[in-house]
Amino acid sequence: MPMLLEVEGLDVRYGRTQAVRGVSLDVAGAEVVTVLGANGAGKSSLLKAVAGAVKPAGGRVVFDGADITALSAPERVRRGLVLVPEGRQILVSLTVHENLLMGAYGRRDGDVARDIDGIYARFSNLAARRDMLASVLSGGEQQMLAISRALLARPRLMMLDEPSLGLSPLLVGRLFDLIRELNRDGLAILLVEQNTRMALRTASRGYVMELGRIVLDGPADRLADNEALAAAYLGSH
Ligand SMILES: Nc1ncnc2c1ncn2[C@@H]1O[C@H](COP(=O)(O)OP(=O)(O)O)[C@@H](O)[C@H]1O
Ligand SMILES: [Mg+2]
Repeated sequence: MPMLLEVEGLDVRYGRTQAVRGVSLDVAGAEVVTVLGANGAGKSSLLKAVAGAVKPAGGRVVFDGADITALSAPERVRRGLVLVPEGRQILVSLTVHENLLMGAYGRRDGDVARDIDGIYARFSNLAARRDMLASVLSGGEQQMLAISRALLARPRLMMLDEPSLGLSPLLVGRLFDLIRELNRDGLAILLVEQNTRMALRTASRGYVMELGRIVLDGPADRLADNEALAAAYLGSH
């Protein structure tokens, strides 16, 4: 399978803290891949470096065959690589509709209005609140808005940083349904999660990080069966 994203020997440092240590991973064009690991393992730093939000101290990021390590974050978005950051980061002082328009910032085609209609058709809760401030949305609705905003960049690969955090079990189920649906439509997904069980049920492959390093990787079903993994790295999920 040709790889859409290839990360090679990535290092991320914050002063003396080395958050990511020589991480290599890849994601194929139509794959869901998960990155698991306890708090502080370096998962968010990895995604931020791939997205261009932090500058890596070493290593390479290759997207669709091109080395993008030196490109700005907006340029990566234009190429189809988007991050839905931890904590959603929607703009609560803007309306739902304005948040969606921000997602299309940088697009030069004329299909934005049609794509936003498509979002409203998919998420009736967002449609019903389009002119309300995003602050009135529930946690689950805010997550849908954050994902919708990312979709408006027309991504080929979406990175999601702990999207299920703080959602009720019902909403977690809906979120993972959505992730599977988007993937069936052809979107590649790199999913950071602490909800290990749901992530391994959704992904085809997974990587486990500990203290900045990848300590285990393999097919999701094999990782799901690995009790040592659960005990050693993942806590009690
Ligand atoms: N902006 C930052 N400045 C300094 N240290 C940071 C910063 N962001 C993260 N770290 C540290 O880097 C390590 C990895 O953090 P992070 O990537 O957020 O891990 P995870 O997402 O797996 O919880 C932690 O030790 C954390 O304290
Ligand atoms: Mg994190």
